[in-house]
Amino acid sequence: MRISVIGCGYVGLVTGGCLASVGHQVTCVDVDPAKIRMLEAGKIPIYEPHLEEIITTSRREGRISFTGDLPRTIREGEAIFICVGTPPLENGEADLSAIDNVARVIATEARGPKLVIEKSTVPVQTGQQLKRALEVYGKKAEAKFQVVSNPEFLREGTAVLDFIHPDRIVVGVEEESAGKQMREIYRPILEKKFVCPIHAGSCPPGAPPEMIITTINSSELIKHACNSFLALKISYANVLADLCERLGGDVEEVTRAMGMDPRIGPYFLKAGIGFGGFCLPKDLQAFVRLAERAGIDFTLLREAERVNRERIEQFLAKLRRALWVLKGKQVGLLGLTFKANTDDIRFAPSMEIIRRLLAEGASLRAYDPQAMEKARAVYPTVNYTVDAYEAAAGADALLIATEWEEFRSLNWQRVRDSMLRPLVMDGRNLLDAAKMTALGFEYHSIGRQN
Ligand code: UDX
Repeated sequence: MRISVIGCGYVGLVTGGCLASVGHQVTCVDVDPAKIRMLEAGKIPIYEPHLEEIITTSRREGRISFTGDLPRTIREGEAIFICVGTPPLENGEADLSAIDNVARVIATEARGPKLVIEKSTVPVQTGQQLKRALEVYGKKAEAKFQVVSNPEFLREGTAVLDFIHPDRIVVGVEEESAGKQMREIYRPILEKKFVCPIHAGSCPPGAPPEMIITTINSSELIKHACNSFLALKISYANVLADLCERLGGDVEEVTRAMGMDPRIGPYFLKAGIGFGGFCLPKDLQAFVRLAERAGIDFTLLREAERVNRERIEQFLAKLRRALWVLKGKQVGLLGLTFKANTDDIRFAPSMEIIRRLLAEGASLRAYDPQAMEKARAVYPTVNYTVDAYEAAAGADALLIATEWEEFRSLNWQRVRDSMLRPLVMDGRNLLDAAKMTALGFEYHSIGRQN
């Protein structure tokens, strides 16, 4: 089946790249000519492990191409994945204008039957609107549309792995035949019949993933429900951390034991300076607004949002308690991305930390293995250093905002000797508290007794 992918952002590139790498013929289209030029020149505009190699191999083998020609891409594709952005509006709702635009072009350009698949994260009932738009604007009698919802559950940093070895594939359809076509598209993944670009022929054993067929509305709800639940779990762990700090206890010990209960599970219980990134905060907000408009009280999620917002303030309050006055102090910052193994700084806790520290008159030296240029574009007055050691040198305090593995294995003795005052505020509980104290650091972390 010929596949078209509309939108060469994060989701589009991972979707297009992975579908090509399991054997499909894929054309990816984007309105940004600079992005297309870059992709045609063999460069990938985002950092995501394995993505560059799968796209390069698929291009060489003629299975993936990039273009700016939307009408042609639509005419050629039998299955069209919509992967355009749905950024938050001022009021927290998702901006669906890009999807609306694409729907109108699909409607007017399509000449034959098309499977129109919404991959972008959208609020429930978007599929209904999409179907109506395709019908209203569709002029050609031979064009027949089937709308499908197929949410992605990709985590930045492991997106390729998540796509080709998913926990489950969720597909929302109106007609059975659309489900059959989706099964065809995902057959190599469902049957684990592809040359795995990650495990080189020795994928970890395990049952093949299941394709869950639901209604379109349920499928759209599943995506928001998952991300909001993950956000709830993190905020829960963060409130536990507050309790541990106040009343005695170690949040790492508490959440580890909690996670061993299979009803709870070990993931997303890591306390820290809160969740960021372009998905969790925005999806949580959109879900709250959606519930509000439907007349459903989802205060539970509002609280998760509030707890998350408070993280930075609490972290900086600890720093203030230790440093007394921030104005004129030199602060080192390790980690700029919203989590490790990505170059994404959108809604990263580090960005808010920088904003507040600069506003209070501290001088900042920051280092990140991947995101220096992106951060420089947002905060040009920060001194970006060549490595973590330089960020720490001469500092009154060193903050850890991202759990990069490279920070764990620093020569911490060297770091200590270079600092003006050996004060470390670990916002991700990355380091061993006992070891840091033994090394002579004044060490503070989250929800632990130090
Ligand atoms: C998320 C979802 O996990 C994914 O399924 C969806 O498709 C897109 O949104 P992503 O944005 O890549 O993926 O990040 P994720 O790994 O979920 O982490 C989000 C934030 O939560 C990060 O800032 C991370 O540091 C934080 N986090 C995560 C915690 O603070 N504690 C945890 O236990 C887990």
